Amino acid sequence: MYTDSSEFYDLIYSFKDYQKESTNIVDIIKLRHPNCKSLLDIGCGTAEHHKYLKEAYTLDGIDLNPKFIEIAKTKNEHGNYWIADMRNFALNKNYDVILCLFSSIGYLKRLDDIVSALKCFAAHLNPNGMVIVEPWFTPVNYYPGRIGMLAYDKNEIKICRMTQSNLEDDLSVLDIQYLVGTPQQGLKHFSEKHELRLTSNAEMITAFKLAGFNVEFDENGLIGRGLYYAYL
Ligand SMILES: C[S@@+](CC[C@H](N)C(=O)[O-])C[C@H]1O[C@@H](n2cnc3c(N)ncnc32)[C@H](O)[C@@H]1O
Repeated sequence: MYTDSSEFYDLIYSFKDYQKESTNIVDIIKLRHPNCKSLLDIGCGTAEHHKYLKEAYTLDGIDLNPKFIEIAKTKNEHGNYWIADMRNFALNKNYDVILCLFSSIGYLKRLDDIVSALKCFAAHLNPNGMVIVEPWFTPVNYYPGRIGMLAYDKNEIKICRMTQSNLEDDLSVLDIQYLVGTPQQGLKHFSEKHELRLTSNAEMITAFKLAGFNVEFDENGLIGRGLYYAYL
């Protein structure tokens, strides 16, 4: 998963419009849960959405990666951030809306892990609460063999990330190679392997139902990966 690349995450994803996404999330919540006051973001990463969402809501987050949690804490001074596994966590606190964005749920490799996570989400919802999940690709819209490249190019640091998307059974296996260069430290190369489950729409809906939710799917969502809206 994210190991050596953690400190570069915000640079690598600086092309992503977190502000616009956050505005869209606020619009969705206003429409679907107008009384919402509190949010929990699961797999919050470096909490880039929180820079914008914190204007509208109280906001906490959990993530498996301690480096991300350290970065997250710097972006929302009033939020609580915990290192926790979404498959099994207990915060002693409940929320009006639970978010799980940018395919964080894809990192769960088995369908029963997804069901366990969704049951944990359910246990942290206030009455009439709602869950918003942005999924990873499905077996239908994933293209194995594809090579992706992304470059971040500033005087003080340059990053090149190349990814090959492979397929192993029901997992997308991403071979990611990074080159990072700074004038002080020269060039550094490292690689990561990311494994994300290719869960079909039907399997996701079954998982939500097994966790006790009624669910709707918006196939466009924030960035074309879709969004699940789930209610108990
Ligand atoms: C693509 S990043 C998305 C981060 C953030 N939501 C965003 O929009 O930038 C996926 C995140 O899921 C986290 N993650 C993966 N498996 C997890 C698990 N079992 N429990 C909690 N977080 C997990 C990773 O550490 C990573 O921060």
